[in-house]
Amino acid sequence: IGAGAVGGVVGAVPDTGTGADGGAGTGAVAVAHPNIALIKYWGKRDEHLVLPRTDSLSMTLDIFPTTTRVRLAPEAGRDVVVLGGRPAEGEALRRIVTFLDLVRHSARVPHRAVVESHNTVPTGAGLASSASGFAALAVAAARAYGLSLTATGLSRLARRGSGSASRSVFGGFAVWHAGRPGQDTKAADLGSYAEPVPVADLDPALVVAVVDAGPKAVSSRAAMRRTVDTSPLYEPWAASSRDDLTQMRAALLRGDLQVVGEIAERNALGMHATMLAARPAVRYLAPATLTVLDAVAQLRRDGVGAWATMDAGPNVKVLCRRLEADRVAAAVREAAAGGAVHIAGPGPGARLLPEGGR
Ligand code: DP6
Repeated sequence: IGAGAVGGVVGAVPDTGTGADGGAGTGAVAVAHPNIALIKYWGKRDEHLVLPRTDSLSMTLDIFPTTTRVRLAPEAGRDVVVLGGRPAEGEALRRIVTFLDLVRHSARVPHRAVVESHNTVPTGAGLASSASGFAALAVAAARAYGLSLTATGLSRLARRGSGSASRSVFGGFAVWHAGRPGQDTKAADLGSYAEPVPVADLDPALVVAVVDAGPKAVSSRAAMRRTVDTSPLYEPWAASSRDDLTQMRAALLRGDLQVVGEIAERNALGMHATMLAARPAVRYLAPATLTVLDAVAQLRRDGVGAWATMDAGPNVKVLCRRLEADRVAAAVREAAAGGAVHIAGPGPGARLLPEGGR
């Protein structure tokens, strides 16, 4: 892969003590959790560098971790990638090999790797498995290849695998900066990373209603490309999303969960509106999604603070107070018609596990 393709994983300092000498058996294991965006990332300005058009803001969850082991295989002629016990193929394999190429280039270590990854969340169902997956891969691969990266550097690296993964490097609430457009490649790469967001005492929970755990029909990558290219609603949403972010940061700082929830819900519905207006339309929302949204509206009429957000799939995540999460989960479970319901709180950032750990 060419130097342009790397674009500088910034802060990538080869550590001659580990990966650079390429000893067989050099490896690392990392764990990362998914995050759910309250201000959505939808649309890239640079596909190759995975630079977004807008800032986004998320909460990392304490459920559904991904654990990933990376071992260097100096004798191997190609990467071996095993996802959930099965060899990866097609697009999933290609994305991981491209990511490893970037790490190899930055570390100046040519060796292939064996990657084993376990998700505890249904893959490809709009439940952010690519976020936890690439955050864990970034942390494990950086260590295995001997790159000494700061958390910011790891966030930039994870971004290259999947944009939302930049946020899963951090626990709790994180904002992913889009960076400024129109810069050269290196400056653009440098400017786009996630970092923790200061919040007051919120005690939030996200109730995850899995109305359909099957893989999505259109990948979020393809869907956001089509939206940016064809939807007349895209630019207005992107502009309003910038205001949403400013207002949400202020609400998080003063601990105003109601305003946080209201902004999250309108931002997500607006994102889905942009897709519905794409040509041809992208529709992730299913009948069961709307039934859950009705239940959320009814909860509010009953005086319970509950606000919904949906990603590239029909599943609904409901933001509420932790003290009311059981009540919200019960209402949502009834509406989700047999779908599983999980209660999540704010979770930790991506981290290395002790050698051999799991
Ligand atoms: C709807 O991060 O999966 O979940 O960068 O192309 O890998 P790529 O996209 P991805 O998109 C996530 C979109 C979203 C909103 C969000 O998480 O902000």
